[in-house]
Amino acid sequence: MDYPEDQNRRVIDYYDKSAESYDREYDNPYFKRLYDRITWRYIEPYLPDEGVVLDAGGGTGKWTIPLAERGLRLTLYDVSSEMLDVARRKIRERGLQALVTFKQGDICRIDYPEDSFDFVLAEGDPISYCIDPDKAVSELGQGPEAEPLRCCGRRQPI
Ligand SMILES: C[S@@+](CC[C@H](N)C(=O)[O-])C[C@H]1O[C@@H](n2cnc3c(N)ncnc32)[C@H](O)[C@@H]1O
Repeated sequence: MDYPEDQNRRVIDYYDKSAESYDREYDNPYFKRLYDRITWRYIEPYLPDEGVVLDAGGGTGKWTIPLAERGLRLTLYDVSSEMLDVARRKIRERGLQALVTFKQGDICRIDYPEDSFDFVLAEGDPISYCIDPDKAVSELGQGPEAEPLRCCGRRQPI
């Protein structure tokens, strides 16, 4: 893929290198007892009963997996090929591969037609990495009828 901007290159390199160890960051009481529960509490009420979800900057599948386990179909979209490889492995191990499509790309340049998705999730700070976060939000907005976009997180110093 061609990503001329230095910022994107740094982000891709960082996540490509940390992909195999990324999930270990979540393996501590803060995430298990606090972050995961609070985040799920904000996501769950907005989930459609059925349909297709875009997990933008979905990384190793932290949120794709529980959503697929509910029977939703997902596109896990991420700029890092290594993060996607880890996600692919985990999703296959759980037998969820029929529900998940993987796509490498930049959330600032999404080329899906409007209304392709019933719900869009961008959890864990992917928007904060974009050179133009407003553009990313508008790309992910998916048109006036779209479900509200919930995103939270702070920018990592990459
Ligand atoms: C902190 S991780 C969050 C991963 C996952 N959503 C989670 O909650 O565990 C941020 C992810 O955003 C991805 N990312 C960063 N900039 C991106 C961009 N411009 N387009 C798509 N993905 C991006 C990274 O590759 C990484 O997988």
